[in-house]
Amino acid sequence: MSASSGEGRPLRAGVVGLGWAGQQHMAAYADLDRVELVGIAGMEAEPLARLGKLYDVEHRVATWQELIEQADLDVVSVATPTVLHAPIAIGALNAGVHVLSEKPMAETAPVAATMVAAAEANDRVLDVSFNHRMRGDIQALKKIIDAGLLGSIYYAKAGWLRREGIPGLGTWFTRAATAGGGPLMDIGVHMLDMALYLLGEPQVRAATAATYAEFGPRGKGGSPYGPRRDTPGAQFDVEDLSTAFLRLADGGTLLLESSWAQWIPHDQCYLAVYGADGGASVEWGGEPKEPYRKLSIWTEISGVAAELNPTPPPDRGHRGCVEDFLAKVRSGDYAAHRGVTPMARAVVVDACYASAEAGREVTLDGGTAS
Ligand SMILES: NC(=O)c1ccc[n+]([C@@H]2O[C@H](COP(=O)([O-])OP(=O)(O)OC[C@H]3O[C@@H](n4cnc5c(N)ncnc54)[C@H](O)[C@@H]3O)[C@@H](O)[C@H]2O)c1
Repeated sequence: MSASSGEGRPLRAGVVGLGWAGQQHMAAYADLDRVELVGIAGMEAEPLARLGKLYDVEHRVATWQELIEQADLDVVSVATPTVLHAPIAIGALNAGVHVLSEKPMAETAPVAATMVAAAEANDRVLDVSFNHRMRGDIQALKKIIDAGLLGSIYYAKAGWLRREGIPGLGTWFTRAATAGGGPLMDIGVHMLDMALYLLGEPQVRAATAATYAEFGPRGKGGSPYGPRRDTPGAQFDVEDLSTAFLRLADGGTLLLESSWAQWIPHDQCYLAVYGADGGASVEWGGEPKEPYRKLSIWTEISGVAAELNPTPPPDRGHRGCVEDFLAKVRSGDYAAHRGVTPMARAVVVDACYASAEAGREVTLDGGTAS
């Protein structure tokens, strides 16, 4: 860890991974005060040179090991294929560097637990970038729920469904050995995170889930947006749709669905909560040309039925994740930030895959979030 990380000095930041996710972290570090982006790592020579120049980065290296060895970092973001999150995070933590990992935290909960153990052993911060909970509408709804406007919430539904959005047929995303799973692991985990965050972190007691792969194995369902990364005939051994029914310790239930490809009119995301005194939904999606998003509340005011459409604050996105991570690092209270809540997400995801595999309900022991 850098000797320059004392009070008031800029933190030295690095980013591993040059893809879309890594670039969000780079932009945030480059823009925020009291932190300097001093190193980036990734295997692709052209973006390494281009991004290194864009952000005037001192250390531009191919591997995460070189970054940790050479750049004298205080903090690092990990934005690589999922199975590399744990080895990189643990390597960085062992070198005394605080870590912000991209989601999903790891390919399984036991692997995520090894990351938490490394954060504990080295007394460092371990955080996971769940940027969707930084949406303005989710933050507004959180305040409304916490103020008690909806009463006690007993049912919730969350889904991220894509019409055609497999993120590169044949890339690391569609192979279990590198991604750990399909849309549940990739985008469903965002919906799970937002739902449990809004519900106040109830323990998940049981999961009944099913997974399907109807598009990917036939070479269909690749994303029409952005550069195509599909490899014809490439391996696809994860699901392309998952559905799960989760029983919560407080008696509530949560329905969670996610798909990379499905016969629907357009991409759609929704998160709905139903309480004793009111319901609410956040919806977004549509075609890139015609996106929509809406926050709605249904309740009663003095016995009169009312629909409210509050005006949310701006989205904080990845910049918000990086900002909050740096605040945790600067707080000095590392013990409160060891990645335990994101690990609990991994426990639920594991239970869903286990249920789908077994074809029956799976109960969770120790799915505690804190
Ligand atoms: N939060 C979000 O909204 C969001 C969106 C997209 C991706 N992600 C997550 O971010 C991560 C990366 O996704 P992506 O789409 O940017 O992937 P990507 O495939 O575009 O980029 C992965 C990067 O990792 C680098 N890499 C691989 N092995 C490396 C090593 N040994 N040392 C250094 N670098 C190495 C590659 O060179 C590449 O630059 C994944 O975990 C993904 O789930 C999150």
